[in-house]
Amino acid sequence: MMPDSASRSLPDLYSRVCAAADFVRAMHAATPVLGIVLGSGLGSFATQVEGATVIDYSQIPGWPVSTVEGHSGKLVLGTIGGVDVAVMQGRVHAYEGYSMEEVTFPTRVLGLLGCVALIVTNAAGGINTSYAEGTLVAISDHINLTGSNAAAGRNEPRFGVGGAAGQRFFDMSAAYSVRLRGMARAEAERQKIALPEGVYLAVLGPSFETPAEIRAFRTLGADLVGMSTVHEVIVARHMGLEVLGISLVTNMAAGVVDRAIHHQDVMEIGRRVEVQFTSLLTALVPQVKDAVCAPAVP
Ligand code: HPA
Repeated sequence: MMPDSASRSLPDLYSRVCAAADFVRAMHAATPVLGIVLGSGLGSFATQVEGATVIDYSQIPGWPVSTVEGHSGKLVLGTIGGVDVAVMQGRVHAYEGYSMEEVTFPTRVLGLLGCVALIVTNAAGGINTSYAEGTLVAISDHINLTGSNAAAGRNEPRFGVGGAAGQRFFDMSAAYSVRLRGMARAEAERQKIALPEGVYLAVLGPSFETPAEIRAFRTLGADLVGMSTVHEVIVARHMGLEVLGISLVTNMAAGVVDRAIHHQDVMEIGRRVEVQFTSLLTALVPQVKDAVCAPAVP
C-alpha cells in the first residue's frame, strides 16, 4: 500500500521528535520531571526557573514557532523549588495553520525528554456565569470540538513512556488527574485563591464564538471555551503523562456580558493575576513532583 501522506518523505515523526529532544539534551543535561505549558498572558511564570537554559523555539529542529502576540516562543529548562522542569513559554495553535502533528510536537518532545507530568495552562472565555475575569479554574475534563484529534494517523507505540501508554486506543476517562487537581485546589485554598473546577471546551478559532455558540456550549456542559490544550492533553495521555490543567478566565465568553472580546483583554488579565498564578504554580511544582515520582504502592 502507498503511504497516505506527503509528510512520509520527511523522517518519521518519532525520529524528528528524538532529534529535537537530543538537541535540547545537548544544551541542558538535567532530565526534566515536569513539563509546564504557559498560555497567553501567562508567560512571565518562566522567570521563576532557576539556573535556566533558555532555548528559542526557532533553534530546535522541527519545533514550530508561534505567530501570536503574547506567546514568546522559548523553552526554559532549569529548576523550580529544586525540581527539574521544562517550561514552554508559548505554544502554537491549529488556527495559525499548524497541523495536529506540529501543534503537539513540543508535547512529544517533553515526553521523550523524560517528563512524567504535564501542567498545561491557557487563557479561556468564561461560560459558567459564576466565573469572572481573572478567575483561575482547575480543568476537570474537556470537550474537543476542534474537529480533529492529534492522535489520528499512524500509531507510534514508541511514544508510550510507561504502562499501557502508546496504544492505538487509549483511555481519556481521567485525562485530567484527579489527584493533581485535588492538590491544586488544596494549595489554592491555603493561599486563599479561588480555584473552581470546570470543563474546557475547545474550538478551532481564531474567531471568538458567537453568543448562540456559547449558549449551545453551556447546554453541552462546558464552563470554559478556548482554542488550545486539548490536543496537547490527548498526546500527553497517549504518552502516559499525568496532566494538570489550569485555565485563566481572561474574559466572559460571547454574549455572557454585553461587550465585544479583544485579544488585548487576554494579555491585560494575564498581567493582573500574574502574582497569584505564579505563587500557586510555584508551590505546586514540588508537590506534583512528589506525587508523580513516588514509588508505586504494591
Ligand atoms: N473564546 C475562545 N478562546 C479564548 C477566549 C474566548 O472567549 N478567551 C481567551 N481565549
